[in-house]
Amino acid sequence: MTLHLQINGVRRVVATDPSTPLLYVLRNDLALNGAKYGCGLGQCGACTVQVDGRAVFSCVTPIAALEGRTIRTIEGLGNAGKPSVLQQAFELEQAAQCGYCIAGMVMRAQALLDKNPRPSDDEIRAHMQPNLCRCGTHVRILRAIRRAVDMLSARVATGKDMP
Ligand code: FES
Ligand code: FES
Repeated sequence: MTLHLQINGVRRVVATDPSTPLLYVLRNDLALNGAKYGCGLGQCGACTVQVDGRAVFSCVTPIAALEGRTIRTIEGLGNAGKPSVLQQAFELEQAAQCGYCIAGMVMRAQALLDKNPRPSDDEIRAHMQPNLCRCGTHVRILRAIRRAVDMLSARVATGKDMP
């Protein structure tokens, strides 16, 4: 089956079995390796990407469901040379230990900030609950998201563009 996908603002064409999980297409066909394979069962969040602005587990999302939808991966957020505010905050707070969960964490957090740029600590905690960190850096991850919220608020206050 041939599918037309919109990924990180770029139209991509993939030919694959319609039941193939989005994660496999990203990693094996499109060389977008930011999203990670953890459990493959929708239980850890290492594979989290955004579909139409919502955080989804790409390991359990069949590619056939995504024709005409907008997909964003960590590669569409920023890069080492030009990190997004959220990526900067994760680095400033040294939120990663092994780093395996981080792309998923960032993409889930970004989905929250896109909808609610000033979430409370309780809202952040509840939103991030589905994503797990085996290294146990949850406290630093939550601190990084709070820092990103503060950085974005400061940008709004000073009239700078939000990335
Ligand atoms: S790899 Fe997708 S939720 Fe664990
Ligand atoms: S930093 Fe290692 S799994 Fe989260």
